[in-house]
Amino acid sequence: MCGMKCITFSLWINILSVITEIPGFELELTPPKPVIHVGKDLELTCRANACPSNVTFVWTALVDRYHGGVSKKERTVSHLLIKNITVKHSIDIVCKATCERQQKQKKSRIQVFSLPQDPLLPEIKSLIENQTQMLSCIVHDVYPLECLQIEWLRGDKTLFVDKPQYTNDYDDVQNFTSQFNYTPSVLDRGKNITCKATLSSTEFGLNETRNSIAEYGPGTITTSINNPSVKLGGHLEITCHADGNPKPTILWFKEENEPALQSQNKELIINSASWSQAGWYHCDASNAVESLQKRIKVTVLGPPNIPKIQLSHKGDPKEGENISILCSSDVGSAELTLYRQSQRTESEALNKSTVLLKIPSLQIRDAGIYICEAKNEFGSERSTINITVAAQHNVMKMPDLPVAILPIAGSVSLLTIAGLLIRYCRKKARSGESHLQ
Ligand SMILES: *[C@@H]1O[C@H](CO)[C@@H](O)[C@H](O)[C@H]1NC(C)=O
Ligand SMILES: *[C@@H]1O[C@H](CO)[C@@H](O)[C@H](O)[C@H]1NC(C)=O
Ligand SMILES: *[C@@H]1O[C@H](CO)[C@@H](O)[C@H](O)[C@H]1NC(C)=O
Ligand SMILES: *[C@@H]1O[C@H](CO)[C@@H](O)[C@H](O)[C@H]1NC(C)=O
Ligand SMILES: *[C@@H]1O[C@H](CO)[C@@H](O)[C@H](O)[C@H]1NC(C)=O
Ligand SMILES: *[C@@H]1O[C@H](CO)[C@@H](O)[C@H](O)[C@H]1NC(C)=O
Ligand SMILES: *[C@@H]1O[C@H](CO)[C@@H](O)[C@H](O)[C@H]1NC(C)=O
Repeated sequence: MCGMKCITFSLWINILSVITEIPGFELELTPPKPVIHVGKDLELTCRANACPSNVTFVWTALVDRYHGGVSKKERTVSHLLIKNITVKHSIDIVCKATCERQQKQKKSRIQVFSLPQDPLLPEIKSLIENQTQMLSCIVHDVYPLECLQIEWLRGDKTLFVDKPQYTNDYDDVQNFTSQFNYTPSVLDRGKNITCKATLSSTEFGLNETRNSIAEYGPGTITTSINNPSVKLGGHLEITCHADGNPKPTILWFKEENEPALQSQNKELIINSASWSQAGWYHCDASNAVESLQKRIKVTVLGPPNIPKIQLSHKGDPKEGENISILCSSDVGSAELTLYRQSQRTESEALNKSTVLLKIPSLQIRDAGIYICEAKNEFGSERSTINITVAAQHNVMKMPDLPVAILPIAGSVSLLTIAGLLIRYCRKKARSGESHLQ
């Protein structure tokens, strides 16, 4: 046990001449049990009382080691100054005083210790709940090693107590590394990890403590809502939490082409939600050790915006042309449908927000109203286009029929007249613009 090795002092027996005893001749050696840190200076004072003449002092180390002190004598007092104490000074020093022919001695037991620095606690990249990792804490230049105890704490709770398993009787300062397999628990979130080195001995009244607090990066990010959705025009607040020391800086970004900063702190606030606020966001937690992100998707719920309907073609399409009609909606998931004269058409989806109706070789009868409808569970919106078809003029280049036909009306049968009238009407319908419903 700690201090056992120190009990190696010999007892001195004073052989005093009863006849020459000087009444009241006593020795006082202070301090009797100094406990002193390596590198400090120690002064011992040996004072003789009630000696009528000058006293002779001799300082000796009981153990055969050079104490290296410098003594200074007055008439009945001697001082021993030991500078820059080392581990080798953990010895008993004896002051011998001779008054006339009588000799007395006193012993001072020096206990040297060393715990010069706070433990070294390497930074922990991240602490992830339920994931075990080995933590190390190093204490440098310790003496006596057998008096050392390492305590690992999370908050106020002791996680693990470690003591050196020593075999040698060291006569110099030692380094000690404590290793500990730690599995963080959710309950310990936000609490500091401390490595506490204590050098203690009740035997010589030593109790020195040094602490280090671990720096660690955020390991887990949690958000107050995981699948957030907000009604169009509504309000949404999401809080992001992350553990770490130093306390991580938490910010929200929206994932656009470039991440766009959305908050000044851990709160993401969406006031009066619009379609453009839907999409992926991430919460970024970072401190000096590590930075971590968590992505979440914000859904905006509401009836779709008015969709857009347009013609692939510029200007009025002409008969015989290939055209297509595009129906598109902006962000927000809506089902798109194209109607032609109230009839659902077979449109093809270009992508999630655009459908297309191809009309090859446009006919006069294709003219009319086309409707683009965007619909979801919250409602629907429509827009229409009135498509007119211009007839191809070069298809029919004929003289004006009524002028040529009427003078010879009598010589042709009624049947022929009827036939010509039908052709005339068709031609009339093709010239200029027709607007068929
Ligand atoms: C005792 O010591 C003092 C100085 O410390 C000295 O002056 C004196 O002479 C000494 N007396 C005797 C008797 O040696
Ligand atoms: C004290 O002693 C140590 C070890 O012997 C030495 O390295 C150091 O320089 C000394 N310090 C002083 C101030 O003398
Ligand atoms: C203790 O660690 C220091 C720094 O790493 C090293 O310089 C020293 O030699 C070590 N001491 C012992 C006794 O191993
Ligand atoms: C954790 O330790 C740091 C210093 O490293 C300190 O600033 C902070 O207040 C401590 N946190 C708690 C919860 O004790
Ligand atoms: C219309 O499309 C068809 C087949 O895709 C093609 O053969 C024809 O030339 C196109 N007509 C015009 C006017 O572009
Ligand atoms: C869908 O396709 C249309 C037409 O090609 C394009 O203008 C639009 O940007 C596309 N939208 C998406 C979300 O890809
Ligand atoms: C479509 O446009 C034409 C002329 O531009 C017009 O005569 C017709 O009434 C329109 N149809 C509808 C349903 O508005």
